Amino acid sequence: MKDTFTVVAFGDVVGPYATEKLCRKLRSIKDKYSADLAIVNAENAAKGNGLDVPSADALLNAGADVLTGGNHIWKRHEIQDYLEEAPYVLRPANYPDSCPGRGSVIVECGRVRVLVMNILGTVYLDPLQSPFDAADRMLRENRGNYDISVLDFHAEATAEKIALANWLDGRVGAVFGTHTHVRTADARLLPKGTAYITDIGMTGRPDSVLGVDTGAIIFHMRTHMPTKFNVSDGETETGIAVITFDRKTKKAISITSADERI
Ligand SMILES: [Fe+2]
Repeated sequence: MKDTFTVVAFGDVVGPYATEKLCRKLRSIKDKYSADLAIVNAENAAKGNGLDVPSADALLNAGADVLTGGNHIWKRHEIQDYLEEAPYVLRPANYPDSCPGRGSVIVECGRVRVLVMNILGTVYLDPLQSPFDAADRMLRENRGNYDISVLDFHAEATAEKIALANWLDGRVGAVFGTHTHVRTADARLLPKGTAYITDIGMTGRPDSVLGVDTGAIIFHMRTHMPTKFNVSDGETETGIAVITFDRKTKKAISITSADERI
């Protein structure tokens, strides 16, 4: 058995076209990086954003081990029941307890138990429970039951992402950001060992505005008139983070990011 454990995280999948493309390539990307666990942010996988059941099932069948969400997770009404039944499909943990679903799950990968968490930022987004308190609560509730922990922090503000990662430094194996659809150039190990990147980017068409047709966005921004946002088809990439842990110490030893053509 290899002496490392690798997690690959895929940035926000934008629309059915990108979902289908990722499904075709997900296993080969996992193999390329010898990944033991794949996490996909899927809150925009459905047509018109949100997550629908067929897209979630397709991504899980294609090799995703956990799907994470964000502020668009509730867009499709049908997802509410699904989130109750699908333990490996998360919604941010800091939504009220009365919301369906869960914000964390422990995945057993052979002998390694990985706690995967999902939290939504509160700067420029909904005023939910403090992400700092939500992270502390999940770590407290799962203490002793996992070997490695990973957090998808779905947030807008870079400062909030960096601050939360530093709050968790040394207590969480990896914190990676999603939501902005733009991959940042700051993948690094923090002083106490947490692997961190502010945003891993998106799964969608680079020649677009965050995955949406450029013309439609420019029209909307110039006129402020209602516009149909078509999701771009064509040459597609997926922004990923690859985080490698030492199997013995369970500590992160590296984090890199890339855009993979799919
Ligand atoms: Fe989002």
